[in-house]
Amino acid sequence: MDAQHWDEMYRGSDRVFSGSPNPVLIAEATDLPPGQALDVGCGEGADALWLARRGWRVTAVDISVIALQRAAAAATDVGDRVTWARTDLTTASLPADAFDLVSIHYFPLRRRPGHTALYRLLNAVAPGGTLLFSTHARADLPAREGFDPADYYQPDDIARLLDPTWNVLINGTRPRAAPAPAGTHHTHDTVLRAVRRP
Ligand SMILES: C[S@@+](CC[C@H](N)C(=O)[O-])C[C@H]1O[C@@H](n2cnc3c(N)ncnc32)[C@H](O)[C@@H]1O
Repeated sequence: MDAQHWDEMYRGSDRVFSGSPNPVLIAEATDLPPGQALDVGCGEGADALWLARRGWRVTAVDISVIALQRAAAAATDVGDRVTWARTDLTTASLPADAFDLVSIHYFPLRRRPGHTALYRLLNAVAPGGTLLFSTHARADLPAREGFDPADYYQPDDIARLLDPTWNVLINGTRPRAAPAPAGTHHTHDTVLRAVRRP
């Protein structure tokens, strides 16, 4: 699933996602004071825009230039509060200790020996900041040719890798609060919310 794959997916439809922010983000970030946020795999930008409209300054990154163009086109009312950046998060370096919220929703992060890309994301969370990671529950992800869901991190995998400088607030499964994406039968999300100790 490289940049070409994602660009083709976005080109295949005028709008791929609903345009609404993820319910998990709304549920878990509404109580957070605005600060600096990193939206990882921002897609068409609904989460980044929701955060910016609540006063966050957002760095929104994605590997797909098509997704980023759409997101930027929708960002007419947020001034300079969102920076859109084309980045491959499996290889890019990230600033350490920089973000009060690192928000990761349905981002296909492959498990790798050494967990380098994952640790870069964890290290990007500022002391006192929040990591919010949600994805489809593994039971909703049947293996198919070329795709083994066990190759991708689930919240529980990440929780096990957190050192004692983290406080895990949520590590569980909940019913989806939004309709399943077209063509899927997703019913549940898995969610990790963790705070890096100040
Ligand atoms: C399933 S979509 C989720 C989009 C958005 N977070 C949402 O919840 O609507 C996954 C997104 O991750 C992006 N992506 C995939 N691999 C990436 C990578 N290595 N670096 C940056 N973005 C990537 C894709 O382009 C896509 O927009």
